[in-house]
Amino acid sequence: MDSTPLRSRAVTPVSTPALPRARAVTPFIKWAGGKSRLIAQYADHFPTEFGAYYEPFLGGGAVFFHLAPDRAVLSDINPRLIEAYQAVADDPDAVMERLDAHRRRHSEEHYTQSRRRMNEGQTRTLVDRAALFIYINKTCFNGLYRENRRGDFNVPIGSYPNPTLYERDNLIAVAQRLAGASIQQASFDAVLESAQEGDLVYFDPPYFPASKTASFTNYAAGGFEVDLQVKLAKVFAELARRGCFVMLSNSDVPAMHELYAGWRLVTVSAARCINSSGAKRGPVGELLVKSW
Ligand SMILES: C[S@@+](CC[C@H](N)C(=O)[O-])C[C@H]1O[C@@H](n2cnc3c(N)ncnc32)[C@H](O)[C@@H]1O
Repeated sequence: MDSTPLRSRAVTPVSTPALPRARAVTPFIKWAGGKSRLIAQYADHFPTEFGAYYEPFLGGGAVFFHLAPDRAVLSDINPRLIEAYQAVADDPDAVMERLDAHRRRHSEEHYTQSRRRMNEGQTRTLVDRAALFIYINKTCFNGLYRENRRGDFNVPIGSYPNPTLYERDNLIAVAQRLAGASIQQASFDAVLESAQEGDLVYFDPPYFPASKTASFTNYAAGGFEVDLQVKLAKVFAELARRGCFVMLSNSDVPAMHELYAGWRLVTVSAARCINSSGAKRGPVGELLVKSW
């Protein structure tokens, strides 16, 4: 792999490569923009050696689970999502027990009540909140996460009469992978506080809309507007200047080519379903930006 930095100074890898582990571990939640289907196309682009791994737009964490790094700092702005990771890391058995109870009670009424409890913050323990979040994630329409202006989750129930809320072996393996990771609720720029030379930072932000009708930027109340895309490009540049390996995914549109002009740009063909209307689903071009 050509490791000549473009605008960054030379990068010295500081630890052994992330070794492939025996078992394939997959995300335990459904998440819009999940990278599972693209991993094969990304594989050649990761550095073979790096220090700590940072994933500041964690979502379902497909890239983290694929790379299985020894040291990781995982974060996302969504507090419910982060709590689910924390609870699974701490006590997967307790989370599964609560999920079994949701599974037994699953109905439209139970879904609606659960959604209200989640929005009203009526759940006292971390494990209960995590199980509630995972139950809703696995039974809501298309696994979407959408909030209204007040910050209430408002996705209706999906059509899953017999939902699978978790796969036991996978959830245990997820907890093992998370054991050594730092899991934080934070905005993406918090990565600047600790990422160092040789670390790998992978950004998978809410995408810049490929067209006016394909906008999917409202993952969290407030959306991810153009000013945040611009701020992210600055954070990218600062990390590259430090000597981090920085990778970022976004939609393959002229605005992104302009924002990341001067960095290495790779087009990845993506069968990415971001439109909730089946008729409008189709491949959306995806851009991978690399700092080296
Ligand atoms: C495209 S998704 C990430 C998908 C993930 N790579 C996967 O494989 O599932 C974008 C994520 O960014 C998070 N997010 C939105 N605004 C953010 C911000 N300002 N800082 C950190 N995370 C943010 C959302 O909560 C969402 O989980």
